[in-house]
Amino acid sequence: MAQKWAVLAVLLFLPINLAEVHWVSVKAGHEAVLRCPKTSEASLTMVIWRSNSSSCYRLSYRKDTDKTDRENCSERITWKYSPASDPALRIYPVNLGDEGNYTCEIANREGNFHSFSSLTVIVPPTVTLTHDKSRVAVCQASAGKPPADIFWIPASNHSSQEEFHHPNGTVTRVSYFGWLNSSFPSVTCLVTHPAMNQTLGMDLRDPSHDFSRFLYILIGGVAAGVSAATGLILCLIFKCKTCRLCKQVCGPAEHFTTRTWTFPFSRARREPAKPLDFPERIYENYNPRTIYVCL
Ligand SMILES: *[C@@H]1O[C@H](CO)[C@@H](O)[C@H](O)[C@H]1NC(C)=O
Ligand SMILES: *[C@@H]1O[C@H](CO)[C@@H](O)[C@H](O)[C@H]1NC(C)=O
Ligand SMILES: *[C@@H]1O[C@H](CO)[C@@H](O)[C@H](O)[C@H]1NC(C)=O
Ligand SMILES: *[C@@H]1O[C@H](CO)[C@@H](O)[C@H](O)[C@H]1NC(C)=O
Ligand SMILES: *[C@@H]1O[C@H](CO)[C@@H](O)[C@H](O)[C@H]1NC(C)=O
Ligand SMILES: *[C@@H]1O[C@H](CO)[C@@H](O)[C@H](O)[C@H]1NC(C)=O
Ligand SMILES: *[C@@H]1O[C@H](CO)[C@@H](O)[C@H](O)[C@H]1NC(C)=O
Repeated sequence: MAQKWAVLAVLLFLPINLAEVHWVSVKAGHEAVLRCPKTSEASLTMVIWRSNSSSCYRLSYRKDTDKTDRENCSERITWKYSPASDPALRIYPVNLGDEGNYTCEIANREGNFHSFSSLTVIVPPTVTLTHDKSRVAVCQASAGKPPADIFWIPASNHSSQEEFHHPNGTVTRVSYFGWLNSSFPSVTCLVTHPAMNQTLGMDLRDPSHDFSRFLYILIGGVAAGVSAATGLILCLIFKCKTCRLCKQVCGPAEHFTTRTWTFPFSRARREPAKPLDFPERIYENYNPRTIYVCL
């Protein structure tokens, strides 16, 4: 007989208890809303929230006085709505100290009702990917809660991991990837966490290659500059030696050299051997379009 009653009691209460436990997981800085058992709001007389978190010990409301009472409860923790209609608890912004168990007790004409909430605060880690002088790539997921998982692409059996636990419950994980023997041009660090996923890539090529490439570009640039200058000088010499031909070829360029032909062509043609004229005229003729046409 006693067994029968026990079974009946389990059947009656188990579904109710299961329905009234809430597992709430919220990102730090966001809003958490904790619910009370569903009851008819009309008959509510009192509601009490209790918690063992470091942020709130007790928050209560009495319908008859329409007053809220706080006992060691942070101002960040308050009612989501009007407690007389829906005594849900609102925590904003959530921080790590809010983690814990919260109980809602409602007293109304039908009796007392309880609901249970377990609040977990998750903190996305800060992810960095760097490398050190000994040719090791370092992927760090700092101060995550729960700890983040770090993977390398391509996968390596030469990676190792370290873990640091902080007093506030967050964990920093650091993974090292040696690439001394690897022929991969790049490596990617993949960080997975309930609050975020992130990938960071890094070029593995020898940084000295980059420097020599820079040198090549520099040398190439200088060489191109020198040859351009040589071409310019040759062009100008050639142009002045064969002034007549050049005038024909460079004819269209006259539009762009306004100050050059201040005296008529005929004069220049008639007195080609006047040496002092040349430097000035070469200088005045300096115009990229003219040079282009001459080359
Ligand atoms: C409330 O906080 C005060 C000081 O912070 C502490 O002395 C007291 O014990 C706390 N009361 C409860 C019920 O936690
Ligand atoms: C709250 O109480 C539960 C057990 O009742 C415990 O697991 C949890 O660590 C407590 N949280 C805090 C912040 O004390
Ligand atoms: C508090 O929450 C934990 C899980 O975080 C749970 O195991 C424990 O039963 C809860 N405490 C109470 C008193 O129910
Ligand atoms: C990595 O591990 C696999 C087996 O797990 C092995 O076959 C392979 O040779 C290892 N590679 C290196 C570079 O050690
Ligand atoms: C937790 O502690 C670590 C190390 O002291 C700190 O870097 C991090 O910002 C803290 N996180 C939070 C959410 O307080
Ligand atoms: C490759 O790694 C092995 C140890 O794993 C080392 O003995 C060897 O010298 C490395 N080869 C090169 C080319 O760095
Ligand atoms: C992270 O990636 C995993 C697997 O791809 C996925 O299941 C999960 O939803 C992602 N999480 C977030 C927060 O984007």
